[in-house]
Amino acid sequence: MSAAATIPAMPRPRIETRLCRLLGIQHPIVLAGMPGIAGPELTAAVSNAGGLGMLAVHAHMPDELRALIRLTRELTDKPFGVYVALPDSRTREMPRQGKRARLPADELVDCLEFAESFMEQHGLELQDESGPPGAIPLCTRAFLEAHVQVVIEEHVPVFSVGLGTPLPDLEALHDHGILVIAPAGTVRDAVRLATAGVDVVVAQGHEAGGPNAPVGTLPLVPQVVDALGPRLPVLAGGGIGDGRGVAAALMLGAEGAWIGTAFLAAREARLPDFQRCALIGAGDDSTVVTRSITGQPLRTLRSRWTDTWERTEFEPLAAPYQARISGPVLAAALNSGRADVHPGTAGAAAGLIRSIRPTGDILADLVSGARAALDQSFDVGAHPTPLAQQLRRIPS
Ligand SMILES: Cc1cc2nc3c(=O)[nH]c(=O)nc-3n(C[C@H](O)[C@H](O)[C@H](O)COP(=O)(O)O)c2cc1C
Repeated sequence: MSAAATIPAMPRPRIETRLCRLLGIQHPIVLAGMPGIAGPELTAAVSNAGGLGMLAVHAHMPDELRALIRLTRELTDKPFGVYVALPDSRTREMPRQGKRARLPADELVDCLEFAESFMEQHGLELQDESGPPGAIPLCTRAFLEAHVQVVIEEHVPVFSVGLGTPLPDLEALHDHGILVIAPAGTVRDAVRLATAGVDVVVAQGHEAGGPNAPVGTLPLVPQVVDALGPRLPVLAGGGIGDGRGVAAALMLGAEGAWIGTAFLAAREARLPDFQRCALIGAGDDSTVVTRSITGQPLRTLRSRWTDTWERTEFEPLAAPYQARISGPVLAAALNSGRADVHPGTAGAAAGLIRSIRPTGDILADLVSGARAALDQSFDVGAHPTPLAQQLRRIPS
C-alpha cells in the first residue's frame, strides 16, 4: 500500500451561511463588481472555487455583455452573477435621457489645460479615444434596462449594480427568478434598497476600493444588520483582505463577504503587469480617497495624478465632467505602462497582498483563514492566542 493511500484526506474547511443556500454556492464569498478587471476568466474561477463570481461591465454594449456571459458559461457550470456600474451616473437619481447637467465651461477649460500640461510634463501622449459608432448613450435608463434584458434572456441567476447606480426594474428580474444584490454605503441607503425589494444588501465601508462610502466597514456592517433585521442577508464589503477579515465580517453579523481588492491579485484578473507590480508593492497607506478621477470620492492607489491634483487650487468637476479631464491622462498612462501615474484602483486591503496567485488558492485561503480565526476565537483554551494568554495573566 502506498504512503499516500494510508493518509486520510483532510476535510476541506467549510463555512456555510444562509447566503450559500440562497445563491447555491459552497462558500459565502462573493466577487465584488470590478468592471474591466472581472471578465469571464476571474468570474468563472471564483465560481469554480465555490464562491460567486460576478461578471462586471460598465461601458460595454448589451451585445458585448451577452458574448461575455456566454464565454463565462464555457468556463464554468456553476452559478455566477452580472454586475453593471454606470460610470457616469454616480448620483442617486439617474438623469433622464436627453437632460444634461450644466457644463461648467470656465472650470472645464482650466482643468483641461492643467491636464494637458500634466501630460506634457510627464511625457504622456494623447490616445485616440473615439468610441464605437451608434453606441447607446451611457447614463440612461435605456442603457441599464438593455443590460437587464440580456441578463434575463441569458438566464443569469444573480444581478447586481454599482454603488450609486440606480436600481433597474426589480419586478422583471424577480419574475424570472433572478436575485438582486445591491451595495449601500449608509444605513439609510440599505433600508431604501431593502424597501425597494433587493434580495441581498452589501454594507460597503470606507475601506473599499472604487466609489467611496463615508462610514468604515467595522461600524457600518452591524448597523446595517441591525437596521435590516433577520429578513435580508447582508454581505460585508470593504477592506476584507484575508480570512481574518472574512471571520470579522461574520462576527459582525454579515452572512458573507463581498471582496474586490483581494481578487485583484488573482492570476485570472484582467490587470496589466505594471499594475500588478504596483499592487504587490502597496502598503497600508498606499491608497487615497480622491475626487480627481470621477468627480466623486473614489479609493484608488495613490499616484502622481492624485497627488498633483490635490496640490492644485481646482475643485474637481461634477460627474461626468471630471472623467473627461482625468480620462485621457489615465488612458495615456495605461497605454505606456506608467504605474507612477495610473497604478490602478484598489482598496485599503491592498497592503495585505503579497503575490499574484491562482483565484482558487486565494479563495481557499480566505475560507481556511476564516475557519481558523473563528475556531480560535470560540475556543481560546484549545488554541491559545497571544491575546488569550495575556487575558489569562490578568486577575479577574
Ligand atoms: C479595481 C476596482 C474597480 C471597481 N469598480 C467599481 C465600479 O465601477 N463601480 C462601483 O460601484 N464599485 C466599484 N468597485 C468597488 C467594488 O465593487 C467593491 O465594493 C469593493 O471592491 C469592495 O471592497 P474591497 O476592494 O476592499 O474588497 C471597484 C473596486 C475595485 C477594487
